Amino acid sequence: MYAQRKGGRKMSDKMEIYYFSPTGGTKKVSDIFAAAVGKDVVWHDLRDKQTPTKQPQGELIIVAAPVFAGRIPSVVREKIKTLAGEGKKAVTIAVYGNRAYEDALLEMNDILIQGGFTVIASAAFVAQHSIVPEVGAGRPDADDIKEIRTFAEAVKSSTSAENVHVPGNRPYKPEMNVAAAPLSLPTCTSCGACAKICPTDAISNMDGKMATDAAKCILCMACIHACPKQARILPPPLQEKTDNMLAAFKAARNENETFF
Ligand SMILES: Cc1cc2nc3c(=O)[nH]c(=O)nc-3n(C[C@H](O)[C@H](O)[C@H](O)COP(=O)(O)O)c2cc1C
Repeated sequence: MYAQRKGGRKMSDKMEIYYFSPTGGTKKVSDIFAAAVGKDVVWHDLRDKQTPTKQPQGELIIVAAPVFAGRIPSVVREKIKTLAGEGKKAVTIAVYGNRAYEDALLEMNDILIQGGFTVIASAAFVAQHSIVPEVGAGRPDADDIKEIRTFAEAVKSSTSAENVHVPGNRPYKPEMNVAAAPLSLPTCTSCGACAKICPTDAISNMDGKMATDAAKCILCMACIHACPKQARILPPPLQEKTDNMLAAFKAARNENETFF
């Protein structure tokens, strides 16, 4: 796993991390993982529409995605389908909001294996729920950090050349299909931060007001998270419905899972 430079100094190989993190939880987990692996990292933000998804050059490819309704977000699915594995090793990380990750890891692994990668390890880690922050509040916490680091150490020393088995069902759960989008409150100054961050170009300035196309919106919460005036919210009935649906997960602690 290490190349020797001419001068004799050990140089670690490059690790490339493809991640999507609308509200920062997936990035937080990825940062902890990357620091523990200790390789030079090339980061690819899958939200970035301008950055073309390059073919991986590094020896180790990591894909980290949040779980949306037991699946991976469509943005992640479409981008990772374009990666050519050519026998490279990959590791997948699903970050979920303390409810369940269901078919997300399986879907991610299926796509990468079909693209020519060997997926040698996978993990499902918990982070705070991006719609109901009382669910998984404060996670990843100190215990999670230890577990993410242990996973990173195991990945670093893995010699596997086999695809890992992960839980999940085929066909996968039907994709989330909610015809709704966040709203702008009267305190919105139309600064455009929401439109800039939206991964699906669902938000535009229409005659001085921010308008959101619900058909394009994937409810990723990036715009709500990015609004400097806290002027973006989910439609109250949808927020209330989700709060109620997740009420049982506020007090519960779901665990991280790793697979080799
Ligand atoms: C639209 C949507 C659907 C979600 N579905 C699930 C789910 O099925 N299970 C779960 O445990 N968490 C779910 N979550 C929570 C996220 O997976 C979790 O908060 C994750 O950390 C978000 O990643 P981010 O902070 O990188 O945006 C969902 C969040 C959103 C926005």
